[in-house]
Amino acid sequence: MNGPRILLVVGGGIAAYKSCELVRTIRKEGGSVTCVLTEGGAKFVTPMTLAALSENPVHTTLWDLRNEAEMGHIQLSREADLVVVCPATADLMAKMAAGIADDLATTLLLATDKPVMAIPAMNVRMWQHAATTRNVQTLRASGVDVMEPDEGPMACGEFGPGRLPEVQMIWQQIASALGHGSSVMVAPEAELGSVTGSMIPRGIPNAKKAVAFDDPAALVAAKGEARPAPATDPDALGHILTGGDAPQPFDPLTGQPDFDRGLEHRPLYGRHVLVTAGPTHEPIDPVRYIANRSSGKQGFAIAAAAAEAGARVTLIAGPVHLPTPPGVERVDVESALEMAGAVEAALPADIAVMVAAVADWRVARSAEQKLKNKNGGAPPALELTENPDILATLAKSAGRPRLVIGFAAETQDVIRYAREKRVRKGADWIIANDVSGDVMGGDANTVHIVTESDVISLPEMPKEDVARILVERFADALPR
Ligand code: C5P
Repeated sequence: MNGPRILLVVGGGIAAYKSCELVRTIRKEGGSVTCVLTEGGAKFVTPMTLAALSENPVHTTLWDLRNEAEMGHIQLSREADLVVVCPATADLMAKMAAGIADDLATTLLLATDKPVMAIPAMNVRMWQHAATTRNVQTLRASGVDVMEPDEGPMACGEFGPGRLPEVQMIWQQIASALGHGSSVMVAPEAELGSVTGSMIPRGIPNAKKAVAFDDPAALVAAKGEARPAPATDPDALGHILTGGDAPQPFDPLTGQPDFDRGLEHRPLYGRHVLVTAGPTHEPIDPVRYIANRSSGKQGFAIAAAAAEAGARVTLIAGPVHLPTPPGVERVDVESALEMAGAVEAALPADIAVMVAAVADWRVARSAEQKLKNKNGGAPPALELTENPDILATLAKSAGRPRLVIGFAAETQDVIRYAREKRVRKGADWIIANDVSGDVMGGDANTVHIVTESDVISLPEMPKEDVARILVERFADALPR
């Protein structure tokens, strides 16, 4: 790998989810990323997401015995070309400015001998507060490249400076900071804003001048060999489960214990996940049917990700042409009534994810013989009747899974409708997606996770990545 090696410190703010997109962009541009997640950051994105996107282990604790023995946390920062803090919260920047080192992220930031860049994101008043202004000045004086935040509407409902800049602008800043003579490839300026675009050798016209990082200040201090930190944290010592009463992770294909993979990779081990996917076909006669458009790809990806996460998965699939994911038990159905029956038969489950595009209506009496097209005659009148709402029924049933999740495909007012749907159907979360574009049958999806208290919007990403992120959140929502 000749591209830049970035150590990405993900702080605890709502913009943390954008760090996922940043990881993808850096990698797409030829760089490699190792992520460090603060405790707050882990409330917004999980280690598994960042590990999946970066294809590197994610570091969360200073007292991680295994990592300490293998590499030494302090040395993590020495292996990077640049340390990027994104999002840099007000709290994280205050600690950086004060030289506080009370967790892995701040310890690395204090110990690194590499350039440091901070990408702030916070509420407008926090950004404009005298304390933050002072801290930013201190950091800049110490050689930290603090990017200016964007201005605009914020997640908290206010407006002003404090938004995380667009990911492509962050990448431009990174490429710029890495200086001359590096092998970094960047998007031409004309293409900024679009993530794709033909790559040219680095050298961005009008790019911000690279910061001089030779100022010997606290945050860029050059240190000697890192010494292993003492492994005193019982959580860290219990991080790798190898025995005792803990259930062993197993290979979903063979059913045999898989001792190579710890439970941190199988967060849904021991859980039963029920997924519905695809459309339903409601017969008009033996050759005709009513159906919604649905490829089944998102539901199948969720079933696959849940199986990878160690769950027992029952996938109740409407008529689709997709292979069964490894380790998944598949039940094929045609109509909504069959799907409802299969869901009931598959209970009990810990988690139900209803992704299927179930037809709202069926023909009250479907014809046993093919309806004849009487040339010139009146077309047949179809009497429709409502199908059972599988999601709403399950959510109200005595055997309700602990976590019930529905999907909402909308073409307008996506989040408002999803909020209403969540309440109406009794689901814990609704995953809302805007299907006004090329979502149906496409490979990418843009979703919003609508919970009782939050809306978490993910950037557009492949349906497999959406599935992994959702599965991690399922695991987080059902702690052991
Ligand atoms: O009402 P709407 O079809 O938009 O609701 C979508 C959500 O409800 C999806 O999770 C879908 O799988 C579920 N659903 C269901 N049974 C129906 C209709 C929708 O489970 N009859």
